[in-house]
Amino acid sequence: MSVVTHYSAAVVADHSQYAGFADELAHRIGAVVVRPVDAELLRGFAIRVVVGTDICVYAGHGRDERRIAVDFSSSALQQRVQAGGKDLLIRACGLHKKQHKVRRVMDATAGFGSDAWVLAATGVEVVAVEQDPLIGALLRSALHRAGVQGLTAAKNFTLCVGDAKKFDTQAPIDVVYIDPMFSGGRRKAASSKSMSFLQGWLQDKYSEQDQLTLFERACDIASARVVVKRSVKAEALSSYPPTFQIKGKTHRFDVYQLGG
Ligand SMILES: C[S@@+](CC[C@H](N)C(=O)[O-])C[C@H]1O[C@@H](n2cnc3c(N)ncnc32)[C@H](O)[C@@H]1O
Repeated sequence: MSVVTHYSAAVVADHSQYAGFADELAHRIGAVVVRPVDAELLRGFAIRVVVGTDICVYAGHGRDERRIAVDFSSSALQQRVQAGGKDLLIRACGLHKKQHKVRRVMDATAGFGSDAWVLAATGVEVVAVEQDPLIGALLRSALHRAGVQGLTAAKNFTLCVGDAKKFDTQAPIDVVYIDPMFSGGRRKAASSKSMSFLQGWLQDKYSEQDQLTLFERACDIASARVVVKRSVKAEALSSYPPTFQIKGKTHRFDVYQLGG
């Protein structure tokens, strides 16, 4: 995938009624506003963000062009939801047990929201935190659409756009889940076109120290456990050994049980 920078991004509103929002989003992500829609001009930007009833991103050009959007009704996500307690993340968060006492989970690194959605579909409340404003906008748009479509998990899903390290909550959080951008000092191989876009877009925004500080904050916030996703061969995020691990083919979940 070609490397992209925030400076090669443009935001365009597909109707004049979205122009104000397009301006605001462009300002937040450091992109240029193109108005009115000018296909020739837009071709000069590696990333094109289209704002309308939905928000989506076009990255690359020609045969390499990819459309990136969040869709909580996708068949891939539905399959994961149907797998229920067989899903390794659900097991790592302890949600596969019938009598579990987990009420609220914080996904501190929401990304495209797939993991948060799968957790919310089990019926627990999920607070999904995403720091990047563009990814946050894609999530907000998808969550709105999911609400309109009447998807039940949307009712359990609260989105916060901001830094999870600074997250302050009055309501108790039982489990904090972290899926960091880095794994053992090296970038994870992107598992999909969305993840490959995310790596290019975020570039070096997060250091390993950031993720370590986030882990420490997660241990303060969670009352029952912190779950960290790692690629299968990566070292643990922290020098504390996890209480146990749940391993898949390409990644694993390190589970840190807190208290008692
Ligand atoms: C690998 S992605 C997560 C993918 C996600 N699990 C999913 O299902 O799509 C990591 C995300 O965490 C976000 N992130 C990293 N540090 C963060 C922080 N301190 N607060 C909030 N979001 C953070 C990044 O912007 C990125 O979107």
